[in-house]
Amino acid sequence: MGIWFHKEEQLFQIITPNTEYCIQIADQRYVGHVYYGKRLEDPRCGYLLRTGEQPFTPSVNQREKGMFMDNFPFEYPTYGVGDYRESCLNVRTKKGYRGCELAYEDYRILENKPGLPGLPATFGKGQTLEIRCKDSVIGLAVILRYSIFDDSDAIIRSVSLENESQQPLYVEKVLSACLDMDAEEFELLTLNGSWARERCMERSPLSYGKHGVSSVRGESSHQEHPFLAVMERRGDQDRGQVYAMNFVYSGNFLAQAEKSQFNSLRMVMGIHPEGFEWVLEPGGCFTAPEIVCVYSNQGLGGMSHIFHDLYRNHLIRSPYLHTKRPVLINNWEATYFDFDSDKLLSIAKEAKKSGIEMLVMDDGWFGHRNHDDSSLGDWQVNEEKLKGGLKSLVDNVRAEGLLFGIWFEPEMISPDSKLYNDHPDWAFQLPGREGTLSRAQYVLDLSRQEVVDYAYESVASILRSADISYVKWDMNRQLSDVGSLYLDSTRQGECFHRYVLGVYQLQERLLQEFPDLLLENCSGGGARFDPGMLYYSPQIWCSDDMDPVERLTIQEGTALIYPLGTIGAHVCDCPNHTTGRTTPFATRGHVALAGTFGYELDITRISKEDREQIPGQIQLYHKYQPLIREGDYYRIGSWRETNRYDCWQVVSKDQKEALITYVQVLAEPNYHSRKLYLKGLNPQAEYRLEIEDKDALEKKSAQGKGYAACLLQLDGQVYSGRLLMQGGLLVQRMDGDFQSLLFHLVQNS
Ligand code: GLA
Repeated sequence: MGIWFHKEEQLFQIITPNTEYCIQIADQRYVGHVYYGKRLEDPRCGYLLRTGEQPFTPSVNQREKGMFMDNFPFEYPTYGVGDYRESCLNVRTKKGYRGCELAYEDYRILENKPGLPGLPATFGKGQTLEIRCKDSVIGLAVILRYSIFDDSDAIIRSVSLENESQQPLYVEKVLSACLDMDAEEFELLTLNGSWARERCMERSPLSYGKHGVSSVRGESSHQEHPFLAVMERRGDQDRGQVYAMNFVYSGNFLAQAEKSQFNSLRMVMGIHPEGFEWVLEPGGCFTAPEIVCVYSNQGLGGMSHIFHDLYRNHLIRSPYLHTKRPVLINNWEATYFDFDSDKLLSIAKEAKKSGIEMLVMDDGWFGHRNHDDSSLGDWQVNEEKLKGGLKSLVDNVRAEGLLFGIWFEPEMISPDSKLYNDHPDWAFQLPGREGTLSRAQYVLDLSRQEVVDYAYESVASILRSADISYVKWDMNRQLSDVGSLYLDSTRQGECFHRYVLGVYQLQERLLQEFPDLLLENCSGGGARFDPGMLYYSPQIWCSDDMDPVERLTIQEGTALIYPLGTIGAHVCDCPNHTTGRTTPFATRGHVALAGTFGYELDITRISKEDREQIPGQIQLYHKYQPLIREGDYYRIGSWRETNRYDCWQVVSKDQKEALITYVQVLAEPNYHSRKLYLKGLNPQAEYRLEIEDKDALEKKSAQGKGYAACLLQLDGQVYSGRLLMQGGLLVQRMDGDFQSLLFHLVQNS
């Protein structure tokens, strides 16, 4: 474990508990990528740069530079000097010349992990390698950063640019990381979707050319995700090599893998260059956001564990990270905009009886917002709805014994608002053009400090006015017309990034002033579920689609990278408002348990049978939340692939306990049982199996359903970990679609 420089070999070695990353300075100039993979521990590996082969560095082999540049595995490739693959850096000079070439200058190894100014960043006890390179023609210094932590196999990369010249430099492109390697038999893995179906996993062959995902929507987006992995074609959950990158950023991104003419592979990731330009004044510095790089030779499961542990141990700062979050009830799908304080109080009263711990008042409490077409920006309480004001409502809810949470959308402005009337110039806009409305709103120009200050005070003054424990911070449209009436003409290309910096500043200030606040980020469902936002909030609303069947795919894709404790998940009413599908209440509960857990329905109006299940579900939440939040997550079966069922498992770090959630999505005719091959257990240990929610099975069994009797026989059985992993757990076919089961395993002492 650690970072070393071997002077003779001119080789940097970055070693994590199970992986190694090697960089070599070739020809005393070029920073080359030698190796990334399982630990090698042999500094003689520099030959992997193919230094003995033609073509190699121009001065050593007297080759033309052109041959070399388009072939060499660069740590940080630049534009315009002969490498025709995707570059990471493109800078224009005052005279308008583009092109950049970096030469190695020196390095330092820091015994810490520095933060990044104004940006979210991983933190903790670690080490950092900084490689300093320079383009002396234009006077630009580039610092490549690689950080590691003692307890993680992730490598964290970032890049800073420093203008050492006397002239401004115009940065047209600055990606945060590149990984050049040989193109083995790899496939590409991405997470794609749309509103209500975010982050669905997709594997595709990696053919020649450039392939990838991106966002120019001003946020990480519903559509594509700032994550990219290449994996062995035959790899799966448990086997095969995977190289993955995840961007600790919440705005535009580019993530790309490129297979080139010489069968090499280049993975890059960073801020999308489209619409981007940053003016770097003399003496100025620009830092590009972090990339988390993960290598696993234990398939996707191994990769997920590295991401989950990294984010739990080194990214999420919230004091709630390792605590049980209050079980909340949110009124959005219960009432939409049609509520008043009496209605909210009636929900609170009923919720309390069932063991719910917090009421969250969603959209519609401010200005004259009775629909989604007004009042964003006017964060004054609508006293026609909340009679006696907000404090009175909060006090009444608190008196019922519930905590209180509230919804905001601080980054937006409705044309129908007092704010827009007073400050039409505070919206992003392109002068002379009709603004592009989306959900009847414009986006505030957060590149402007006075606008950031206004947005901050809007939220903070409400929080100061009453006893509020939780904020749902929403962002319901993507950016367009990104022009600022405030920035001058040379800086319009900074708007997108300055907007994201404005959002980060807002949330940072909020957490400083209200350190006990539980913050949940949201963006029209899960359009800004990314590591950047996790730095500020320990949980993010995963999707507006709460149909448990749809959630199987959405939560599987989300849990590929993010720990279950970060995934905002609620039990909805049926028929589901997005799909119209009706599913058993128990299944809705079991699926929501694999997240933060809560309710989003009118508890005063749902059926008695459903309501009666809530206390039991909340008991399950209290029993299993620590395990779900802190344990290792394993994917056992995927509905996407099986077309029949879905199954996941969480195992405690000490392997003494496990929870298995099984969802039979479709009832199949004429089969008896299937085997679930469990994972992550101690093969030698004996586990006692317990089935949760037995009542329903007992009723079915009493009605003569043989499958229920058979399942009940599992309850109380003791099996070895080896048997459950190698032989499998036998699960009977149940009657009906969308049935689910929870199995608890506890090691026999
Ligand atoms: C977004 C959120 C929803 C809800 C609405 C309110 O769509 O994702 O949960 O808060 O906004 O307008």
